[in-house]
Amino acid sequence: MGRLSVNLCGIEIDNPLIPASGTFGYGQEYAELYDINCLGTFSFKGTTLEPRFGNPAPRIAEAPAGLLNSVGLQNPGVRKVIEEELPKLRTVFRKPVIANVSGFSIDEYVTVCEKLNREEQVGWLEVNVSCPNVHGGGMSFGTDPSAAAAVTRAVRAVTDKPLILKLTPNVSDITEIALACEEAGADAVSLINTVLAMRIDLKTRKPVLANVTGGLSGPAVFPLALRMVWQVSQAVHIPVIGLGGICSAENVMEMMLAGATAVQIGSANLKDPYACPRILAELPKLMDRLGIVNIQDIIGGAHHG
Ligand code: FUM
Repeated sequence: MGRLSVNLCGIEIDNPLIPASGTFGYGQEYAELYDINCLGTFSFKGTTLEPRFGNPAPRIAEAPAGLLNSVGLQNPGVRKVIEEELPKLRTVFRKPVIANVSGFSIDEYVTVCEKLNREEQVGWLEVNVSCPNVHGGGMSFGTDPSAAAAVTRAVRAVTDKPLILKLTPNVSDITEIALACEEAGADAVSLINTVLAMRIDLKTRKPVLANVTGGLSGPAVFPLALRMVWQVSQAVHIPVIGLGGICSAENVMEMMLAGATAVQIGSANLKDPYACPRILAELPKLMDRLGIVNIQDIIGGAHHG
């Protein structure tokens, strides 16, 4: 066990850095740039039952200290992920991976999770009840405690693998949703997904994104994510994975002090594809400066004064 390792729902990972779903594809592009085995693990692109082409363009917009996306869950569908992406992944990544699952109905979540549950390399299932860019699914399950609990319970019944529920910040009290997921059988929660946002083009006087709204991520949302991780980790007894604008070792440390067992790195990967190895190299130096021997010792440290 190294000084950076943490235990995520019974699985020891070498370090707490996890590229977030939607910013790392199925691993191949990054594996061409560096050895992705340096990561704790990663969460692959939100996968649905059928292939999806996603929303019309433009689906990316810039913002001060952030980025809006309205990708719309573009992915090749679970069959292709199992038949093509996972065999390719095995050639470049030796560790368990987080399978991120999206859906438009409880039956769809269950079917996709059942299929991915049979895959040996899938270590955790991360059920995304928080995508703000689709209608009739995604976030609509994550803004109501009983709907979030219903998805959790249904998926729990078909998997013994660690089950993570990915939560939206677009609610008035995220702790209610997290508690509902915990009570329904979730092993962990990850938060936050993106913040519902928009931009307007001054020349056309129209919304920049074809979908009108999109999800804001990046450093702009870090303090908001930190506040929610702080609140949720006080409310639940299961691990919290913190994400939202993390782009430095300092941000990782803050998130873990707020209560995160591990962290996901999202839009930082899009700005700098080497963001994760860079943060990984910075972490031990920062720990030395702060007198921290093992990173797991700081989880939730800010709650204890
Ligand atoms: O639109 C998207 O594919 C984003 C998904 C998400 O934020 O969960």
